[in-house]
Amino acid sequence: MNFVVQNALHDPKDTTALRFLLGNRPDIMMRWPVVQTLPIWDSAELSNITKKLALRSTSSQPGVGIGSLTIFESIGCGLRRIYCLLEDKHTFDAILVTGGAGFIGSNFILSWVETKGTRVVNLDLLTYAGNPANLAALEGDARYLLAHGDICDAEFVGSLLREYRPRAIVHFAAESHVDRSIASPGAFIRTNVQGTFVLLEQAKIYWSGLSETDQAAFRFLHVSTDEVYGSLRPDDPAFSETTAYAPNSPYAASKASSDHLARAYHHTFGLPVLTTNCSNNYGPFQFPEKLIPLMILNALQGRELPVYGDGENVRDWLFVEDHCSAIRAVLESGRVGETYNIGGNSERTNIDVVNTICDLVDEMRPDTGGRSHRDLITFVKDRPGHDRRYAIDASKIARELGWRPAEEFESGLRKTVRWYLDHGEWVENVRTGVYLDWIKKNYTERVAL
Ligand code: NAD
Ligand code: TYD
Repeated sequence: MNFVVQNALHDPKDTTALRFLLGNRPDIMMRWPVVQTLPIWDSAELSNITKKLALRSTSSQPGVGIGSLTIFESIGCGLRRIYCLLEDKHTFDAILVTGGAGFIGSNFILSWVETKGTRVVNLDLLTYAGNPANLAALEGDARYLLAHGDICDAEFVGSLLREYRPRAIVHFAAESHVDRSIASPGAFIRTNVQGTFVLLEQAKIYWSGLSETDQAAFRFLHVSTDEVYGSLRPDDPAFSETTAYAPNSPYAASKASSDHLARAYHHTFGLPVLTTNCSNNYGPFQFPEKLIPLMILNALQGRELPVYGDGENVRDWLFVEDHCSAIRAVLESGRVGETYNIGGNSERTNIDVVNTICDLVDEMRPDTGGRSHRDLITFVKDRPGHDRRYAIDASKIARELGWRPAEEFESGLRKTVRWYLDHGEWVENVRTGVYLDWIKKNYTERVAL
């Protein structure tokens, strides 16, 4: 079967709509005015796309500013039109989320569509940490688009902003794992520093061209971490928004750099930037390289539970849904140019967290031999430069925006263990070769202490 796709967008050089629709088939990307034959497009794939197109065209408002994407079937040397997409691209209600296929980003998009119901464009490179399956619930939903691309690609970012005219950018995209930043820091500088710079620069260009009203409504929300503040001693007060930056890992340093760039774009250019610094998240869809999902899955498989050093390092834990509600609150009512610390008021040592996970797994999936999963705990070589303690003073966001976490750590952890137990297929799909390579690389040298 042969099909032909023609891009007839009003801006002939702009292939954005095609890139969205065909994001999972970069090999069939095409440019105006080329009309290209797709010899290997099978009928299942076509029906998927046409389903999407049909849904999307019902939500369009023709006449406001229209682009179109047309699919033809080739019959002999002629063409038969099958589907035509018309899309309203000129309303000012969409948001652009970067890194929306990752852990927090996907939770954020799902809860955004549920609570706000406006359109979301998800710009994601789909690295090892990005998983479109996290957003499977939105498949065919006219309010959601995946734009497969790189935040470092200025041309692509600029074209998305022009095409979809977001009223806000919520910037999650990052390399996010400390151990990986120790093994290979380069990717962290590229995505977290260079990528944030490109995004800010393109946002500035886009924002400068908006009407005065739209400029006033626009927001750039930069999602960051408490790790930029460094490490606390046991009796130190928790991190506040005025704590001096002292990043210790390449990850933390790259996030600190991006925070400074975000701050500068507000201070120098007036871009309406907001920054959030949040503590450790946990919950559904977290990639099993981070402490909590790694321990849950290892326990379920009867594998060793590798605790770094003495296990007495302390983190503050926040259920991911609470982070999402905090971001929505900051987006809605946060003061432009401000930073907001977000935390769960749940400081725990790593060994406490791992013990609690073991007890939950003992209860929900008991070992057939009657042993406790705690027997699997193994203390291994410490992480170099391992921060001892993080704690967040979240009183500013509580006072100014009325935000508080809704979930207790123990109930959130119970929900999380349940989620991993109930989502075996998701787990199997992320445990690919790339994941297994990382586990081998990170843990074979960490011999038991
Ligand atoms: P994650 O690693 O699960 O997801 C990152 C996402 O970004 C992935 O979907 C990936 O494909 C995408 N991405 C990576 N490089 C990209 C690029 N160059 N262009 C476009 N997309 C790219 O991360 P997460 O845990 O969901 O964290 C999201 C954000 O929140 C990060 O900025 C992180 O620093 C911050 N944060 C995380 C935590 C936490 O506990 N996980 C806590 C505080 C702040
Ligand atoms: P992690 O989930 O990597 O988050 P972060 O380093 O950003 O805080 O780690 C949380 C804590 O758990 C941290 O102190 C390191 C520790 N840890 C282990 O003890 N074993 C592990 O296998 C991992 C991944 C982390």
